[in-house]
Amino acid sequence: MRPLIFAHRGASARHPENTLEAFRAAIRLGADGIELDVQLTRDREVVVIHDPWLERTTNGTGQVRNHSFAELRRLSAGSWLHPRFAPCKIPHLREVLALVRPTRLQVIVELKNFFVPQPELEERVVELLRSYEMEERAVISSFNFNSLLQVKKLAPAIRTALLYIGHLREPWAIAQQYQTEQLHVPKEEITPALINQSHRHGLEVIGWTINRSQAMLQLRKLGIDGIITNYPLRARKLFTSGPNAG
Ligand code: G3P
Ligand code: CA
Repeated sequence: MRPLIFAHRGASARHPENTLEAFRAAIRLGADGIELDVQLTRDREVVVIHDPWLERTTNGTGQVRNHSFAELRRLSAGSWLHPRFAPCKIPHLREVLALVRPTRLQVIVELKNFFVPQPELEERVVELLRSYEMEERAVISSFNFNSLLQVKKLAPAIRTALLYIGHLREPWAIAQQYQTEQLHVPKEEITPALINQSHRHGLEVIGWTINRSQAMLQLRKLGIDGIITNYPLRARKLFTSGPNAG
């Protein structure tokens, strides 16, 4: 049933983003998939965290890439939101894949390698997706388009998504150049023409980050393929009721 609902950093409106708690909530609340952000630790483990720095979403300091996985595991990734989330940790990508694998959910893995270079992040992520047999249910996205080409070389069967911000004149042409199957489009750039042209070029369109009910309903009318939202339950309720449900 379209549009698919992807929980942005998990169900992040009411749970600490990019934690197992937020991903479990997304499953419980009826999302079709989750979106998450990955980076490498100093010892080349793949961790799920958005910022290059620890300060906003953990009780640590400094850059993610300067810490080992063991060091990061000592931090709380939830106390910044509420004391009851203090036990939440920064997850390894393998833990999230193990959580999602027995479900029917899809996973959008965003490589956070635009501002901070992450050598071999592509290889590590592809290896993990393969070892959990999640290639068919995964999409790898990035603002770093060359990295997406790298993924395609490593794993032609894994879908990729051109993730962008601001205006691109013909995003479908750029997607074809970088061999992606999807466009992840910022909400202010989504128009009927963009959706139609993208579909004509064989591309799926996923909008981000769509939190308001009115926008969810409007995008569904336009025939968007998926939305990335902090409020998966809100989207689920809207999409399973009303005259256009189903
Ligand atoms: O997938 C779209 C969205 O997650 C990109 O922005 O900053 O939330 O990672 P950001
Ligand atoms: Ca993201």
